[in-house]
Amino acid sequence: MWLAAYLSPCVAAPAADASAPVVEIASWWVSEGEVASLGVMRKYIEAQGLRWRQRIAAGSGTSRYGDVLKGWVAQGRPPMAAQVIGYDIHAWARQGKLAILDDVAREQEWDEVVPYGIQHLSKYQGHWVAAPINAHSTNWLWINRAQFARLGLALPDTWEDLVALLDRARAAGIIPLAMGREPWEHTLLFESVAAGAGGAEFYRRAFLELDPAALDGPLPEKIFARMSVLRGYLDAGFSRRTWDEATTLVRQGQALMQVQGSWVSGEFRLHGLVPGQDYECQRFPDTQGLFLFNSDQYMFFKDGPGDDRTRAAFARTLMRIDLQTDLNLATGAAPARVDVPRERFDLCGRRAISDMRNANMRRTLMGSIAMGNANPGPVKQAIYDVVNDHLMGRIGDAEAARRLRRAIAAAHDGKNP
Ligand code: GAL
Repeated sequence: MWLAAYLSPCVAAPAADASAPVVEIASWWVSEGEVASLGVMRKYIEAQGLRWRQRIAAGSGTSRYGDVLKGWVAQGRPPMAAQVIGYDIHAWARQGKLAILDDVAREQEWDEVVPYGIQHLSKYQGHWVAAPINAHSTNWLWINRAQFARLGLALPDTWEDLVALLDRARAAGIIPLAMGREPWEHTLLFESVAAGAGGAEFYRRAFLELDPAALDGPLPEKIFARMSVLRGYLDAGFSRRTWDEATTLVRQGQALMQVQGSWVSGEFRLHGLVPGQDYECQRFPDTQGLFLFNSDQYMFFKDGPGDDRTRAAFARTLMRIDLQTDLNLATGAAPARVDVPRERFDLCGRRAISDMRNANMRRTLMGSIAMGNANPGPVKQAIYDVVNDHLMGRIGDAEAARRLRRAIAAAHDGKNP
């Protein structure tokens, strides 16, 4: 049953006094690496003598989790704080449900340190309504090092290199590209392909600004043609597994690579894998210089349990440099602040931090479509539908390109696509 509440086992701190204030959170984190990440947050809270409670409802694409959370709020029992990503923050803020975090933000100078693209989502009408805890990025290839070494090719820098490598993997009898079953995972592949084929300006205009003119011409069909090429490297089992089961295939060498967010690194790390030795993290070809981000954030319910002091203590803790370091060693992400030292991070973590800082300065840190950081929920859903129908072979490249253009045009016109 996916609506299971359980506590993470990996917590060393002593049990807090039974009368101590409670920090109660909601999250969708259930994979092994994610559970370890929740344990880090819990440790920081318990170290302050506060108690920690968590309500977990699985669903990484967050639509199921989002529904459960809406249910809790409708029943009058919101948690104190809830994990949230992307435009969902604005949807909650628009309903007047969220506490304003400006005081803590001023005290800790969030304006100065949080990457601009992320701030855009954390703020609503100029006020901080969410605290970002990480900056994941999605345009990565995660490659099994031993299998890669056997294939005798260089790490892929261009689309052509990638296809050549996937071909070799197929000939060698392993799954070239590990994939999971959910539309958000398919859209995550799509966004890297789209950014690689079209570049930063195209991605910004088409998916962030929702300018239908960006989708004129042959580019959309080319993107779906590339998706069709990649479909040919999936195994039949993809439509049954979760993203972290796909990660396990790469970890164990049954698959060569996965295109996924940096949470994959969190899973590998938990199993003792070392980047550069056991696996490679490489930007998806032709997206070098882009950082398609997915930032996990925490929003606080105005009418949630607990007092302002505890709420502020939790928000302040989330944004501390030491928490953002320890937490993101576990998540695999970059911190959501540009000033966190890189020293304690591994090769992929350091790479992610440098990429995040550079992209922030060049305004090429752009929201992930799949994770709802690029555009509002209904637009994201319309893109999921097209990409999923196409990947599952229900529509061809030309039809997918037409439907994508229609979805963006409808969003642009302010209609529900
Ligand atoms: C995302 C989340 C990430 C990661 C991923 C896979 O929604 O923001 O932190 O855990 O799901 O579950």
